[in-house]
Amino acid sequence: MKGAIFTGLAEFVEQEHSLTLWLEVVDSCTLASKGEYLTTEIYDDEEFFMLAHALSEKLATPAPDLYRGFGVYFFPTLMGIATKYASHVEDVFDFIIIVDSVIHTEVQKADPLAYTPTLLYDRPDDNTLVVRYLSKRKMCHFAEGLILGAAKHFNQKVELSQSQCLLKGDDHCLIRIQKR
Ligand code: HEM
Repeated sequence: MKGAIFTGLAEFVEQEHSLTLWLEVVDSCTLASKGEYLTTEIYDDEEFFMLAHALSEKLATPAPDLYRGFGVYFFPTLMGIATKYASHVEDVFDFIIIVDSVIHTEVQKADPLAYTPTLLYDRPDDNTLVVRYLSKRKMCHFAEGLILGAAKHFNQKVELSQSQCLLKGDDHCLIRIQKR
């Protein structure tokens, strides 16, 4: 996983809690990187899962809430890299629909070692978008947080629900986004 996601997590913990908490969490995990991350390098996915697990235990926050919260926090950072692809976009659904075919595709082109999830879309009506999420990382709650972050960015209100989930043994996650 890209170092930028790790440095984002460190920043999130420092801003929402404290640097001390981040250092304690790093200390409690056995990390090949020793917890030192460069944004452009790639690190073992397991390190992220270990850190997130340790954080969730220390904060007594369920992991889905932690991943979601981090996604909301991290969205502006990702959006900062993607502005040129989304300059014409004004609606959260129109934005989410270009993530797979444009934004993540560009991420892959720029760094063939990057790994991004597959997102497939279904638009049953004007106010509903269903995102099918597939990834070896099973980070659907982070995806939910990014979607909520995107809604905030476009100043639109959405509600999310998941009817199928990789973490429950389904073969993909189905995230339903309803405009309010
Ligand atoms: C609502 C919008 C978005 C959603 C739902 C989304 C979803 C995700 C998820 C869930 C991951 C974690 C990895 C995984 O699940 O396998 C990820 C990784 C990533 N995304 Fe997105 N994303 C969004 C927007 C963006 C934007 C705007 C950018 C900007 C360039 C971006 C760039 C990346 C990068 C660089 C990674 C890490 C790749 C790696 O570790 O190799 N995403 N995305």
